Amino acid sequence: MKNRHTSFEDLRRKTYLVTGASSGIGAATALALGYAGANVVLAARRIEACEEVAKQIRTAGGQALVLDLDVRVEETVRQSVEKAVGHFGRLDGAFNNAGVLGVSRPLHEISTEEMESVLRTNIMGVFWSMKYEIASMLSSGGGAIVNNASIAASVAFPGIAPYNTSKHGVLGITRTAALEYFKQGIRINAVCPGPVETPMAELAFGGKEHLKAAMAGSPGGRAGRPDEIARPVLFLLSGMSSYLSGQGLTIDGGFTVQ
Ligand SMILES: NC(=O)c1ccc[n+]([C@@H]2O[C@H](COP(=O)([O-])OP(=O)(O)OC[C@H]3O[C@@H](n4cnc5c(N)ncnc54)[C@H](OP(=O)(O)O)[C@@H]3O)[C@@H](O)[C@H]2O)c1
Repeated sequence: MKNRHTSFEDLRRKTYLVTGASSGIGAATALALGYAGANVVLAARRIEACEEVAKQIRTAGGQALVLDLDVRVEETVRQSVEKAVGHFGRLDGAFNNAGVLGVSRPLHEISTEEMESVLRTNIMGVFWSMKYEIASMLSSGGGAIVNNASIAASVAFPGIAPYNTSKHGVLGITRTAALEYFKQGIRINAVCPGPVETPMAELAFGGKEHLKAAMAGSPGGRAGRPDEIARPVLFLLSGMSSYLSGQGLTIDGGFTVQ
């Protein structure tokens, strides 16, 4: 990770839950939070991969807790928030990042089960995460939430109707919740990354080399790196963005403004 030192001093010793911390953007954000001095709760299904990230945080002097979470199962989401609060005393913020790409096929060839599967992870997962995080933050005096949407929340890509639909939903629920809780001290935003070098983007583009080739002609000339999404997430979680809520922050090297 580049730029190991951040200036987000108010994150120090606060507690943040990161869903999907086992890989890609979630792992990079968990690490960045740890390096910023925060207590980090890393949650995903692949807990060994979360432990690898947690080990790096602890080696740097930080505190990390790993939890087994499947965002498709409401009870595991509820328990994750409960365990995070039980371990660190309170929850100050969360990065609801867990997500899947799902099938890539023309809409009329997509089954009900395939559609529901993507919506369950990407929308219901974010809904349940916010539901329990917000309830906890209301009782402890506030916090900040960042949901991971995508540029697919506002522009369409043919062949991925379930993903597109789900990410529009993530931005929608972000905006509604932001309105509901700002006065109670909870800010809620989303990040909308363009293609980022992670297993998901490699899957979407048919491999690392195809991703590189596809992005060579983009305004930025390359895909983003996970740490280039992590730092804006820290900004949105920190008090530096105290009047910022309900926004979807596009982070795409100019991909969508061309
Ligand atoms: N990469 C991009 O180009 C890009 C662009 C825009 C937005 N995004 C968004 O960024 C987020 C992270 O994706 P990524 O690119 O970092 O991909 P990734 O490396 O494949 O990571 C996906 C993460 O989501 C977790 N996850 C998936 N299903 C889960 C479930 N049911 N319960 C708990 N965790 C689950 C995975 O953990 P386990 O498998 O261990 O459970 C993994 O940690 C996603 O929401 C994605 O839509 C990515």
